[in-house]
Amino acid sequence: MYKIIAKRLLAPNIYLMDVAAPRVAKAANPGQFVIVKMDEKGERIPLTICDYDKTAGTVTIVFQTVGCSTKKMALMEEGDNFSDFVGPLGQPSELVEEDLEALKKKNIMFVAGGVGAAPVYPQVKWLHEHGIDADAIVGCKSKDYLLLETEMKLVTGNLYIATDDGSYGYKGFVTDLLKDLIEKEGKKYDLVVAIGPMIMMKFIAQLTKNYGIKTIVSMNPVMVDGTGMCGGCRLTVGGVTKFACVDGPEFDGHLVDFNEAMRRSTQYQTEEGRAEIERQK
Ligand code: FES
Repeated sequence: MYKIIAKRLLAPNIYLMDVAAPRVAKAANPGQFVIVKMDEKGERIPLTICDYDKTAGTVTIVFQTVGCSTKKMALMEEGDNFSDFVGPLGQPSELVEEDLEALKKKNIMFVAGGVGAAPVYPQVKWLHEHGIDADAIVGCKSKDYLLLETEMKLVTGNLYIATDDGSYGYKGFVTDLLKDLIEKEGKKYDLVVAIGPMIMMKFIAQLTKNYGIKTIVSMNPVMVDGTGMCGGCRLTVGGVTKFACVDGPEFDGHLVDFNEAMRRSTQYQTEEGRAEIERQK
């Protein structure tokens, strides 16, 4: 059993939980994910790792309530237990594997959309701990939905906020802000890492392709069971079939067939999930 040590409401319908899972915490790297189950009969829910504390033996997850299972999960409180907490799964971010000295020479920009701030955070934090301060853009629909601002400020070089309604920071989409930073403020980036809704990653990849900036995206949104068995996360990258859960979740954003991935992702959402997403728009 995996006990919930702490629970926090980050934004409307978005929760953070610290879960006691020492073996997962010990092996975790930025970019990886876990699969949780509330009880024996519960649905398997894949979630990216938002943070981990190898000493305390805890793993932090962030989730948004979009259907029956996540709503049930939101009702769990500190002291309650998950029956399964499997991980770390997937490949670590390629940044972790890169030569540190080469990485230090690069200007890196992270772009997070909505709940994407959760998987971006451990990567920026890891870089910070290794002497590299990357820039980051965090975008959300309004100030109320901004996640992890305080935490991100501590580990980024420059943190830029974009809200759709202009209630905080830049008014507009993360793509417009990135374009402005590059074209109006003369910022130069060697690498962009974009994590968020598929449509956002698609447009960021289109934009950076024009500038010739290498771009990594995280294809978590297409996962179903996360084991390499169901085929739900199949996607095409550079004309080759890949499975996000075992080959990814991160891929070269300029090679991902986003249109196909978006079609498949809609197909796999439950009726309830689709209705809930529509309601929250
Ligand atoms: Fe089922 Fe990847 S999520 S194969």
